[in-house]
Amino acid sequence: MLKQSDLSSLNKGDSVDHFLLVKKCEIRLTKSGKEYLSLELGDKTISCPSNLWDDVPGFQSIKNSLVVGDIVKVNGSMDEYQGSAQIKIDKIRLSKQSDNVSNTDFLPKSPRDLKIMKGEFLSRLEKISDKNLHQLMKNIFADERFEKFVTVPAGKMWHHGYISGLLEHTLEIIKICDLMSDIHSEINRDLLICGAMLHDFGKIEELTYEPVFEYTERGKLLGHIVISAMIVNEEMNKIPEFPENLRNNLLHLILSHQGKLEQASPVVPKTLEAITLYHADELSAKVNAYKNVINNEIKSGTSWTKFISLAGTDIHSHGIKSQSVDSKQTLFD
Ligand SMILES: [Fe+2]
Ligand SMILES: [Fe+2]
Repeated sequence: MLKQSDLSSLNKGDSVDHFLLVKKCEIRLTKSGKEYLSLELGDKTISCPSNLWDDVPGFQSIKNSLVVGDIVKVNGSMDEYQGSAQIKIDKIRLSKQSDNVSNTDFLPKSPRDLKIMKGEFLSRLEKISDKNLHQLMKNIFADERFEKFVTVPAGKMWHHGYISGLLEHTLEIIKICDLMSDIHSEINRDLLICGAMLHDFGKIEELTYEPVFEYTERGKLLGHIVISAMIVNEEMNKIPEFPENLRNNLLHLILSHQGKLEQASPVVPKTLEAITLYHADELSAKVNAYKNVINNEIKSGTSWTKFISLAGTDIHSHGIKSQSVDSKQTLFD
């Protein structure tokens, strides 16, 4: 078990004496033609860019062999470049077996309890009353596909970017969609909950988490919306006489969940359930992203993050204490 301070807790000037995972690695040339390595190094909290210059001890021995997924021992300090944290490397070496570190030490994990989250998902699935939808969901969320679904992150960085992040994100949306179905009786609850469960399901093939979080070739070429729709359509074909109206409406939820054509949805939301799912997805993603930014970007003595381009603003931490929630507490009654 790796014991070292979180990279996100370090301030400019603090010394670094850490094992770190190589998340990017490229050989580049300086203006004077000297080789250096442009790296991205990280632990389970954050990743930082770092340049490894040719005069640093260890450069020659790892220059040609270092690959993404390697673990390195770095001595140096936290620095800053154009307002962002950067690691200044004084010394570097590859980790060895006797260091007793593994890649899983560097993969961030959901703060929620996995067993509880799995239980929440499966018991909500059992409450789907439409027999065609219930059968469809049981067939889809099974075996190896279910294991992948409960493991993959929901994204690389912006929101729920950690192991079991997709499951955590999906449960939040289910909860919001159930609440909206309580408020608006016109919403078809079964249809909406199935849309929530399936909307990002294609991420099981779009993202990989070993040795680092990365998009797969299939993910880059097809995207998770198309992958989800293809899997769901194929599974609908296996259920005799699956109603056409139900098929089209569930596929519409998956296809429209990102809300806008310029946000990779081929159609905009056109039903009550689709507009609800779009906003539930946005709400879950943005609140999680703000939480991560506040946790990782705000250092002691400040209450503002730098300008976050994806949010279009800098973000403020007011410092007023919230009620702490036990990670073992269930979201569902
Ligand atoms: Fe999505
Ligand atoms: Fe989503």
